[in-house]
Amino acid sequence: MNNNGPYNAYISAVSHYFPEKVVTNSYFESYLDTTDAWIIERTGIKERRYLEDDQPVSYAACKAIERLFEKFNVKPEEIDLLIIPTVSPDMIYPSTVCIVQDKLGMKNCWGYDMLAACSGFIFALMTGVQFIQSGAHKKVLVVGAEKMSALANKNDRNTVVLFGDGASAVLLEPTTNKTTGIIDAILHIDGSGGKYLKQPAGGSLHPASIETVTKGMHYVHQDGRTVFKEAVKGMADVSLEIMKKNNLKSEDIAYLVPHQANLRIIQATADRMNLSRDKVMINIHKYGNTTSTTIPSCLSEYYEEGKLKGGDNLILASFGAGFTWGAVYLKWTI
Ligand code: COA
Repeated sequence: MNNNGPYNAYISAVSHYFPEKVVTNSYFESYLDTTDAWIIERTGIKERRYLEDDQPVSYAACKAIERLFEKFNVKPEEIDLLIIPTVSPDMIYPSTVCIVQDKLGMKNCWGYDMLAACSGFIFALMTGVQFIQSGAHKKVLVVGAEKMSALANKNDRNTVVLFGDGASAVLLEPTTNKTTGIIDAILHIDGSGGKYLKQPAGGSLHPASIETVTKGMHYVHQDGRTVFKEAVKGMADVSLEIMKKNNLKSEDIAYLVPHQANLRIIQATADRMNLSRDKVMINIHKYGNTTSTTIPSCLSEYYEEGKLKGGDNLILASFGAGFTWGAVYLKWTI
């Protein structure tokens, strides 16, 4: 992706929030035909976090943002633009961004929700980056936030075990150093894959009705095997493509930061990139698939654990419903 603007964008602050309620695999064993061993072996997930019934996704987004403001000494009124990629907004409209902006008093910002499923974070990141590169804005907040527990059918073992809730935020700021921060991105969509992973009802095609509710059409529906195959190929191909385009060898990369949908997809991607396990950020065992939150939550946790240092080359990679997929190459700065 070309940058003809005067600035590069860099991540100047990062934060995450996961709810307190831990849901272990044994909870699903208690009422579904599944086992802790199957879930760990096939997905890598040991537990996930759930928001309470009265906590919408904006609650998690606010927690992550408040934590970022506090840790990095940023004031709400400094934010120019807020973008929230999410498939689980509080409601279709007003946007979750408007709800969060009001709750946190970010009175000088505008913003919007974005829909790109599991690629939501990197699509939103690259959208925010444009406003920084051009010089239009100085502080852009990108917040992946999800309440996947509200979209999963509790009686479907194929999907419910996979997902969790949470939110993570990154702040983008400009630098005149064009060799640091977000350097490059390759983003793709292929709508012919839409039928394999979707939430069919609740939009204008199938508005809520007794029939849609009875048939469970408001839940996540997935052909897991097809999505798995496409994800392995898509994530690995695009990660290799961005490495090649930027003359990066495996030894140049500090971390792959992959979307956390399935540990086997992550491992297959790392293998194709010839990266050892210690160079792959992983938190799926603790949180499951939190859709737009997975990548920034990895960044935040590894940063807080002191595992990131300025100048580290990172490859962010994702694949999700749509199909949507892509990779971002960035040089860590904080
Ligand atoms: N417990 C026990 N058995 C389960 C199960 C569970 N929680 N979920 C599914 N199964 C069963 C299936 O019913 C199937 O049984 P069958 O052969 O009798 O029909 C069997 O396990 C194997 O199904 P399969 O789809 O081949 O399993 P898998 O190894 O591919 O794992 C997923 C299933 C969903 C974990 C995996 O396909 C996956 O991760 N897919 C992609 C997810 C993803 O990337 N999403 C996109 C981005 S969000």
